[in-house]
Amino acid sequence: MKQNKELAIGVLGSGRGSNFQAILDAIKAGNLHARIVCVITDVPSAYILERARAHGVPALYIDAGLSKTRLDGASEQRYIDTLQQHGAEVVVLAGFMRIIKPALLAAYSNRILNIHPALLPAFPGLESWKQALRHGVKLTGCTVHLVDAGTDTGPILVQKAVPVLDADTPETLHARIQIQEHIAYPEALAMLARKLHG
Ligand code: GRF
Repeated sequence: MKQNKELAIGVLGSGRGSNFQAILDAIKAGNLHARIVCVITDVPSAYILERARAHGVPALYIDAGLSKTRLDGASEQRYIDTLQQHGAEVVVLAGFMRIIKPALLAAYSNRILNIHPALLPAFPGLESWKQALRHGVKLTGCTVHLVDAGTDTGPILVQKAVPVLDADTPETLHARIQIQEHIAYPEALAMLARKLHG
């Protein structure tokens, strides 16, 4: 039987990398026909680097320049070049704490995915689980979406709902959301893999 091509995923992350791990686990379990070709971080101490190296995934720190919220022009080009050199077809933002600018968006048009810890369009921006608690909503969740020029906008691919409990703290709610993130991201990528490679 003809084996379809694996989806070649480049991951950008700034932190713990639990979503990276969930995607890798889904690949290893045979639930996602893909390969993580590289992990790039803007934070040299990010745990995602250790996780990647432990699994033999090429893992790089690339300085993002002086801005705290975006990639400056030269570093953005280094990110693009590195992703392309590793053969990434799609870019997965897994806790990457910077805004994606037009050059990277154009290089990977409709092929950059993000996961957001709320049911968009509710609670865009930072620490959405705290926003959810402040507003007293009874239901929140996570959203995997394609990245466009806006902040946490772009077509929605997968959403998972999570109940907010009376006793929740920011930590307990975020932890419950993350359990669903780890299901949602591999699911969205499997959909994309089927769309791109049949
Ligand atoms: C997740 O909560 C995700 O929704 C947000 O950043 C966090 C990344 O966590 N965009 P991790 O680094 O994958 O553990």
